[in-house]
Amino acid sequence: MKKITCTAPVNIALIKYWGKRDEKLILPINSSLSITLDQNQLCATTTVTAGADLNEDRIWLNGLEESISKPRIQNVLKEIRCRSKLSELDEFAHVHIVSTNNFPTAAGLASSAAGYACLVFALAKLYEVDGEISDIARLGSGSACRSIYGGFVEWKKGTSVDGVDSHAVQIENNSYWPQLRILILVVNASKKSVSSTSGMQTSVATSDLLKTRSENIVPARLDEAKLAIKEKKFHDLTNIIMQESNQLHAICLDTLPPILYLNDVSKTIMKLVHQVNDYFGVNKLCYTFDAGPNAFIIVEEDNVPLVYNLIKTYFPPANKDSFLHGLEISEEETSQNLIEFIRMEPTPGAIDYVIHTKVGSGPQVLNR
Ligand code: DP6
Repeated sequence: MKKITCTAPVNIALIKYWGKRDEKLILPINSSLSITLDQNQLCATTTVTAGADLNEDRIWLNGLEESISKPRIQNVLKEIRCRSKLSELDEFAHVHIVSTNNFPTAAGLASSAAGYACLVFALAKLYEVDGEISDIARLGSGSACRSIYGGFVEWKKGTSVDGVDSHAVQIENNSYWPQLRILILVVNASKKSVSSTSGMQTSVATSDLLKTRSENIVPARLDEAKLAIKEKKFHDLTNIIMQESNQLHAICLDTLPPILYLNDVSKTIMKLVHQVNDYFGVNKLCYTFDAGPNAFIIVEEDNVPLVYNLIKTYFPPANKDSFLHGLEISEEETSQNLIEFIRMEPTPGAIDYVIHTKVGSGPQVLNR
């Protein structure tokens, strides 16, 4: 038996991927940019096993067996086997895949990106596939290709029809900007939202704004974001991040029928972020939202206590003891002047919990 266990991270897009030009190969209409999150707080763990006595491929996700015949899983397996010299051997004919997340899948936190990145990374190790593998992860889920690297990652959209040049590249590694922290505000939401896969399909079919965005807005914005990262200009970078998030959700509203991922709590979080930044006259924090109401707040380390205290003030936790997950945060009083400036009513219980994390590294081998 050959067996290998790996972990892979979640990533959060700063420049968003929304829309495909090829559904099967998962080729995007625009390039995107993300930060990879630390696997100590959020990761997928996948064990892949091969052996001559296995007589079929099988997969288990979070303890439940799933269908192995899903096209995306099949595409990934096919591509790995196609690139491996070991595929002809009896002992590599079939695999068993067991994958879990260390965070609730239901929270809507990009579990498919971590899951497919982990699957591809583990299979590549098992089948001894070297070289670029982010393009294989892309076949599982577009955003998964960015989880193949740590730090700051760009997914180059590529121009080739076969997708060979549509893969991820690392812009900077995870220790490049060590002060950056991410607070994930898991918003209490009972309604399941439209999946990104089907949401972006409808946007491509119906939104004129999306076409303008991918052709005329993203290329310049991506360059600006990369420059702000290079020069470590937090204020400029966070302005771009918020505009990007808002444009994604504007396009969702421009889609027919409209897709509404943000709820009232998300909007209150946005308002709070702008009030705080207005008060200081410079960005202390920013938000970004994907295909759901949860907020990803990006902030520098020194300002985490201030931001966390504001979150607790305006969204008093239903359960104080289990509110904060991940990295610790020291206590800090919020200034009375700031509270008076913000002038917002608290919404108790609106945020279920907060995950405090930082920028992290790419997939790892746990054991073989
Ligand atoms: C809003 O990668 O989940 O998170 O390629 O169809 O699997 P598929 O979609 P997916 O879309 C992610 C969309 C997003 C923005 C982003 O991560 O760039």
